[in-house]
Amino acid sequence: FAEDGSQLWLRFPAKNGISPEKIMAKGNSPMLNIARRELTGHWQGQGVELRLEKSLKNLKDGYRITSSSEKIVVSAPKESGLLYGVYHILRLQQTNADLNNLNITEKPSYDVRILNHWDNLDGSVERGYAGHSLWKWEELPDTVSPRYEAYARANASIGINATVLNNVNASPNMLREDYLKKVKVLADIFRPYGIKVYLSVNFSSPKVLGGTENSDPLNKEVQKWWKEKAAEIYKLIPDFGGFLVKANSEGQPGPQDYGRTHADGANMMADILKPYGGIVMWRAFVYSPSKEDRAKQAYLEFVPLDGKFRDNVIIQIKNGPIDFQPREAFNPLFGALKKTPEMVEFQITQEYLGQANHLAYLAPLFKETLESDTYANGKGSTIAKITDGTLRPGKLTAISAVANIGEDTNWTGHQFAQSNWYAFGRLAWNHELTSEQIADEWIKMTFTDKPEFVNPVKQMMLTSRETVVDYMMPLGLHHIFAGNHHYGPEPWGDYKGGRPDWSPVYYHQADAGGIGFDRTQTGSNAVSQYFPPLNEIYGNIRTCPENLILWFHHVPWDYKMKDGKTLWDELCYKYDSGVQQVREYQKTWDRMQSYIDEQRFSEVQSRLKIQAKDAVWWKDACLLYFQTFSKRPVPYDIERPV
Ligand code: GCU
Repeated sequence: FAEDGSQLWLRFPAKNGISPEKIMAKGNSPMLNIARRELTGHWQGQGVELRLEKSLKNLKDGYRITSSSEKIVVSAPKESGLLYGVYHILRLQQTNADLNNLNITEKPSYDVRILNHWDNLDGSVERGYAGHSLWKWEELPDTVSPRYEAYARANASIGINATVLNNVNASPNMLREDYLKKVKVLADIFRPYGIKVYLSVNFSSPKVLGGTENSDPLNKEVQKWWKEKAAEIYKLIPDFGGFLVKANSEGQPGPQDYGRTHADGANMMADILKPYGGIVMWRAFVYSPSKEDRAKQAYLEFVPLDGKFRDNVIIQIKNGPIDFQPREAFNPLFGALKKTPEMVEFQITQEYLGQANHLAYLAPLFKETLESDTYANGKGSTIAKITDGTLRPGKLTAISAVANIGEDTNWTGHQFAQSNWYAFGRLAWNHELTSEQIADEWIKMTFTDKPEFVNPVKQMMLTSRETVVDYMMPLGLHHIFAGNHHYGPEPWGDYKGGRPDWSPVYYHQADAGGIGFDRTQTGSNAVSQYFPPLNEIYGNIRTCPENLILWFHHVPWDYKMKDGKTLWDELCYKYDSGVQQVREYQKTWDRMQSYIDEQRFSEVQSRLKIQAKDAVWWKDACLLYFQTFSKRPVPYDIERPV
């Protein structure tokens, strides 16, 4: 096959796998047949037995793998587990693991492992940097792109079992009969790969599509419309997953338009989906221009509603309280809802991390959030444990991320952006995997297992997110992007008369005295939304982690950092170190030429060039601008702004 990245990490040996007689499996379902096909296509080891075992039912989608030199046995309570088990052994084979004496038990960390596509019906993708939408709405239902199945296969290979097809800024038309027929075609293709389809819905759909007087969730006509719509959907797609809702957020309609609460809105939908087993993922990404610090708003709106949601509603919360910044403090809503299931929303698409031009491996960002201790139930109440059911047993568990997938040949724009799709899937399956394990696997599957390639490239990946933080927004700076496109720097941005909550100057607060957003008691007091002792740790400039110091404090320019430097000097060195790191990545990558194909090599090489140029742009723009306040010289030993 062409070395253009289209194969993703699924680069199994080209020669044939084992003969069908060496596969023992009962049944002929489409899912089992896919498992068989993967084995006959690619498996080159001993015979394989696929065995359904009801007694393993607590493994849900999980499986067990045992092996001897003659035979591998994959057992699972459901066929989905068998399929995942087959992908597991293929991964082992591809990474050259020993296939004898295996004894592996796997169980997913989350029930719902879901991608959110921000794809519009016109084929554009909000915050998409890999070309147009994969979904060809104008061709469906009659013309079916082979990429739909390739997409499902790639997801199944890493355990992703759900997908929201359309943008959270949802068009009401998504629920039109003609579109639902197109959705059905996709659902039918995804089903044998264990993937359920969900849709983002626009809260005003009843009024816009159904002509009801309003879309008030307590209006009987409105409820009737949703009920009939649900019946129509489930007739076409019996295993339809449910709705994702962005309501009363950034101008989207919602229950508050009618004086109702988020709970009123979510519960109305939940009641209607309940008989079918559907769920509602209700987003907590809400804020409006107000005197209140944007970082506090979701907590203020949702905490009073705790306990008021139906059990098939789950609150979907972005990892940080602002908006997918290179680094954010974690969202204080995690753990604050004691009775309501919560799920994380990550962003795989790099809206604020250099988009498809910058190499930023995001597993460390995902892990940083999941491992953050909220202290909600005392020490050890990590976001992982709050959301995976450990500390909230018996509740729905899910994890989501905004996809970076488009119709580009290599799916994700940057070859290395594939690793972020991969990493999300692997962490949704097992959040205890380390960033390093995941990078190791991905590199070996995607490129080569030669240590001369794997080790330096892995090092580059593992440091890459911090590098982006350094040259864009070190020390807890945030939201100093240029408006709208969110690609380059605009720390001077001051949208006077417009939206101060979108203005960079509002977030960095630089003045003659210092820089940073005071979120302590003397400022917005966002620290009070964190459980003790975090409120104190973050609230005290001496104990606040330095990588968040400007997130929580307005810090004097001459403040002494832990390494003895002044804050101003530290800021300069951080920006510079980000730039120098990217230059190192360029050198590292240049040395990799002989290990991989020319096309992928040169694609990455040219994007690193852009990244290095952008890093300098960020450093110069930010330091020159902040210097107008600090009035201090840039240390002599860093690269000079040009
Ligand atoms: C960000 C992003 C928007 C998106 C929004 C959301 O603000 O820039 O494009 O719609 O998040 O998550 O709803």
